[in-house]
Amino acid sequence: MGWNDWYQYECKISDAIIRAQADALVSTGMKAAGYIYVNIDDCWMGKRDAQGNIQPNSNFPDMKALGDYIHSKSLKFGIYTSPGPTTCADQEGSYRHEEQDARTYASWGVDFLKYDWCSAQDVYRPDEMQGAYKEMHDAILSTGRPMVYSLCQYGFQSVWEWGASVGGNMWRTTEDIGGNYRRWSLFAFQNNGLEKYAGPGHWNDPDILLIGIGKTNLDEDRAQMTLWCILAAPLLAGNDLTKMSPEILAILTNPEVIAVDQDPNGIQGRRVWQEGPREIWMKLLSDGSKAVGMFNRSVGTLPVTLRFSDIGIRGKASVRDLWARKDLGVLKDSYTVAIPRYGAAMVKVEPE
Ligand code: GLA
Repeated sequence: MGWNDWYQYECKISDAIIRAQADALVSTGMKAAGYIYVNIDDCWMGKRDAQGNIQPNSNFPDMKALGDYIHSKSLKFGIYTSPGPTTCADQEGSYRHEEQDARTYASWGVDFLKYDWCSAQDVYRPDEMQGAYKEMHDAILSTGRPMVYSLCQYGFQSVWEWGASVGGNMWRTTEDIGGNYRRWSLFAFQNNGLEKYAGPGHWNDPDILLIGIGKTNLDEDRAQMTLWCILAAPLLAGNDLTKMSPEILAILTNPEVIAVDQDPNGIQGRRVWQEGPREIWMKLLSDGSKAVGMFNRSVGTLPVTLRFSDIGIRGKASVRDLWARKDLGVLKDSYTVAIPRYGAAMVKVEPE
């Protein structure tokens, strides 16, 4: 769990912005809710020096000092590069400098690396992709500094089948979801079926959250958070934390919803029922109960019914609304709720 700058700022980032977001993680209570990684995405880098060492650009005067600042708040420091000669935003990549760059990052105190394919397609054959990802993993290992290793190659070559074997702790499963509800939902619901590849230490990554960025409303934001938590997905907030409404903060930090995402067994949920735009997804929790996401992907309000038999429960069950943090009582056979356009409900269900 953490924060990433890309969707809010793209290339308009600086040391001051990153420090302000680190401050806000603490002051808003986001850190207390579990968000600890401060991840700089593309566009921090400048040119290499005469020895080939990567330098930050002028917006980042001192990366070691920035890392120290982040660590002084008991947060963790994430960074980004590409296996190719250039990144997706045409900045200097790590091609032929993998070990050197990993050493540089370790010397700055980096704890997380996102490795984004981009121009690597110009220098590697498709069958060399896994090797290119493994090479950077080996380079990280040889620094002796642990880093979360985040693969970003948009789900090519069924990365979920081999991401963990090249050292990946998480891998993007689709192309960028940035945009409105229609865009993120188009990609994110495709994570159904990938549940058997995820587990502690190696996760499917449906991309950075768009909550609070301004392209979605609160119903859509609750739907995104619901789906990500049912998926046991990495939770990387993407919004400007210094200007967040109380409603957005409440969506990002609801402890009962986050507990579903962070459940110790780390089981990724899956779709258990669908009828047109109505979908029901279920995630098994370590206490034996079931977290359920109920989605309405249509443009008008619709009633959605969870039949307990679809999640393996016969007869009566106690149902708790995780967004409202309220018990709904003991219900028989099913639970029906009206869900607004593009919205979701999220409940925890325990057999009686
Ligand atoms: C790609 C990645 C994004 C982001 C940008 C940066 O599009 O998928 O997540 O890192 O590059 O340029």
